[in-house]
Amino acid sequence: MSTLSELYEEIALCQLCEIAKYRTKVVPGEGAENADIMFIGEAPGWHEDQQGRPFVGPAGQYLDNLLASIGLKREQVYIANVIKCRPSGNRDPLPAEIFNCRKWLERQIEIIHPKMIVTLGRYSMAMFFPGKSISKIHGTAQRRDTVIYYAMYHPAAALHQQSLRQAIEADMLKIPVLLAEAKTVPEAKPQPQQLSMFED
Ligand code: URA
Repeated sequence: MSTLSELYEEIALCQLCEIAKYRTKVVPGEGAENADIMFIGEAPGWHEDQQGRPFVGPAGQYLDNLLASIGLKREQVYIANVIKCRPSGNRDPLPAEIFNCRKWLERQIEIIHPKMIVTLGRYSMAMFFPGKSISKIHGTAQRRDTVIYYAMYHPAAALHQQSLRQAIEADMLKIPVLLAEAKTVPEAKPQPQQLSMFED
């Protein structure tokens, strides 16, 4: 069994938050264990909760189109969320839920060891760019050690607002150059992850 499958089994047993009781399926994440690029969204919605897979509803279809615009298929990337259970009524994740779930995302990053991490939306951005505003930093990248971090709007927000849609589509088109650059950075030993610890 791969390390990711073992991790998924552990995540499926997690009952730290109240919302774990109400989930249909836990949504750990999916994609290639050796992916160079990892996309991190917010939380599962109704469709994801039904299927146990991230980004499979309308926002997911849009994400697939965005990936296709740069020649990537979802099987070539890794897709995860900040929290792994659906918050009831699609509300925003609570700070306690983000805190409880953080260790799973940290383990995923350790296993996949991506060269580039793309945050989708505010909650994911806050873990890697604390204190920043998405309207200011979307479409900008920061290299820390051997990893390039890149902030984008959330596809669900962009679906419904024309100005954000133009921004997310333009931001997506910047990824291939950044990813090519990230691939030229020499490999470092995987480090234990601790999120929300980045300084400016
Ligand atoms: N929105 C997210 O942030 N994640 C999903 O998996 C689906 C919608």
